Amino acid sequence: MKDKKIITGLKPTGDLTLGNYIGAIKQMVDMQDKYESYLFIADLHALTVYQDPQELKTRIRKFIAMYIACGIDPSKNIIYIQSKNEYIPAISYLLECSTPYGEASRMIQFKEKSKENASFSVGLLTYPILMAADILYCDCDYVPVGIDQKQHVELARNIAQRFNNKYGYTFNLPKPLLSKEGMKIYDLKNPLKKMSKSEENPVGVISLFDSVDDIVSKIMSSTTDSIGTVKYDQKNQPGISNLLNITSVLTNTDIDSLEKQFANKGYSEFKKYVAEVVSKHIEAIQNKYYEIVNSDYLDEVLSQGAELSKKIAKEKYELIKERMGL
Ligand code: TRP
Repeated sequence: MKDKKIITGLKPTGDLTLGNYIGAIKQMVDMQDKYESYLFIADLHALTVYQDPQELKTRIRKFIAMYIACGIDPSKNIIYIQSKNEYIPAISYLLECSTPYGEASRMIQFKEKSKENASFSVGLLTYPILMAADILYCDCDYVPVGIDQKQHVELARNIAQRFNNKYGYTFNLPKPLLSKEGMKIYDLKNPLKKMSKSEENPVGVISLFDSVDDIVSKIMSSTTDSIGTVKYDQKNQPGISNLLNITSVLTNTDIDSLEKQFANKGYSEFKKYVAEVVSKHIEAIQNKYYEIVNSDYLDEVLSQGAELSKKIAKEKYELIKERMGL
């Protein structure tokens, strides 16, 4: 019985990598069986910095199709695009009016990002309040987030608590659900650095959109060491350990068995195997992706998700207005 609700927002920026898949997306896929799950593309949140309109449009669709291709199941999740639900920004405004400026401007992400760019937008300041609207409209219990978004979920909780005290019970109080450190996947060229979507040197980063040829050549040319045995040793053999981690997760095999399988074998044979495992896996994801990205099925999923989320948000919006005397 799924009695707790979670909500996840995905900002459609950057690429999606093998690191995201192993570190985060697989965890989300596991959670959909345990919780009533809401999942949306936070496209309004992407707008706090300029986005090329055409590119944003394709990226939103690519993102959602890729998550579904990776195993997010539309029959287990309410999936929608944030900007299709016009009640969310409307709720956000009402919450802004009961959020002290001081509290919003103390958010760490706001402080950091407003320093980076002197002409930052007002949207950067209200960003976490829009996020509070995302979270509070559906009375969710948990919000799975990385550590960088924890403070924003706590702000949402404070906003809800203050509102409830002032106007009477209106919102369930959400809690952050810190994602497990997940398995960290490192850059193939520099295995001391996380595999990151904003990495400028894409030779070490496998994108979920890479061709099989690129995947194979990136893995075959990944950095290893001069020790020469396939062994898990994070300290002395970070490159090999990273490849072992990747292979272990994708094949559901423990590291010990992989070490045995490749005892007395050279790195190149091991890499060939890893390349085959990774490219087969990503190819399967991509096949699914291309099947759905331009399909009516995806339109249908998104339109059902939008309808449902709008229905819930409208009710909450009316209640908030009522409580506030509108
Ligand atoms: N701010 C989140 C991020 O940058 C994305 C997000 C927007 C979100 N609204 C949300 C996450 C609501 C969880 C719940 O990753």
